[in-house]
Amino acid sequence: MMVDLDPKRIPQHVAIIMDGNGRWAKKRGLTRPQGHLEGVKRVGEVMDVAREMGIKVLTLFAFSTENWNRPQSEVEGIMKTMCLVLNNQMSKLQRDNIRVRLCGRREGVPDKVWNELEAVIHKLDKNTGLTVNLAFNYGSRGEIVDAIKNIAKDVVIGKLSQKTISEETVGRYLYTKDLPDPDLLIRTSGEQRISNFLLWQLSYAEFLFTEVLWPDFTKNEFKKAILDYQKRDRRFGKVVSHQQG
Ligand code: IPE
Ligand code: IPE
Ligand code: MG
Repeated sequence: MMVDLDPKRIPQHVAIIMDGNGRWAKKRGLTRPQGHLEGVKRVGEVMDVAREMGIKVLTLFAFSTENWNRPQSEVEGIMKTMCLVLNNQMSKLQRDNIRVRLCGRREGVPDKVWNELEAVIHKLDKNTGLTVNLAFNYGSRGEIVDAIKNIAKDVVIGKLSQKTISEETVGRYLYTKDLPDPDLLIRTSGEQRISNFLLWQLSYAEFLFTEVLWPDFTKNEFKKAILDYQKRDRRFGKVVSHQQG
């Protein structure tokens, strides 16, 4: 039997690199799109369990700026699936008081796809429960470049003074402005890299790499990840209290 979670140590923000859909499909003699479709089912389940636990923000890496380099048919399939799923899940998202926001570059995404995503997001924007931060056409270096450009622009027009630029200022120019930094990063499928994800925001996150492929990442796997997180000693550069003196 699994030990219960400590309600006082629930992470505020969990970020997930949902990886391994293709390998999951290959192992079963299925196509890659079939792997993505199965992966989408886990997205719904993980949202449910995160909400039940009282997690405030769930960031999901759905499509990276590097993923454009995949075969066009796969890219189109992923876009279509995303729009379809968000639309199909609309009433459930509404009922569960879930807010969705996009984290990524507008540029490069077909208008039809972006508009459809924005329309869904708009309908949910009054919700106050779990925030699902969808990293879509996201790349962390690109995000930092965009932030630098906007900071420079605001300095030139006098909206910002170079002298007062702080870490907090930089945070305000990132796509994740207004969100707390992730406490926990989970990557499925056994890969141990961050693939250009949230380089700035993950500075003090706990990392959890699991061999489980994303389509096999059930509610129970998510709960296990949170339990593991609760055992970590987050020191933030300090000395733990019992070692002081
Ligand atoms: C993650 O699964 C989903 C996306 C990147 C969109 P992959 O498609 O990367 O699956 P693998 O890594 O090839 O198994
Ligand atoms: C990272 O997975 C991006 C997403 C999960 C959306 P990839 O499968 O694209 O990453 P690499 O290529 O293995 O680093
Ligand atoms: Mg992958």
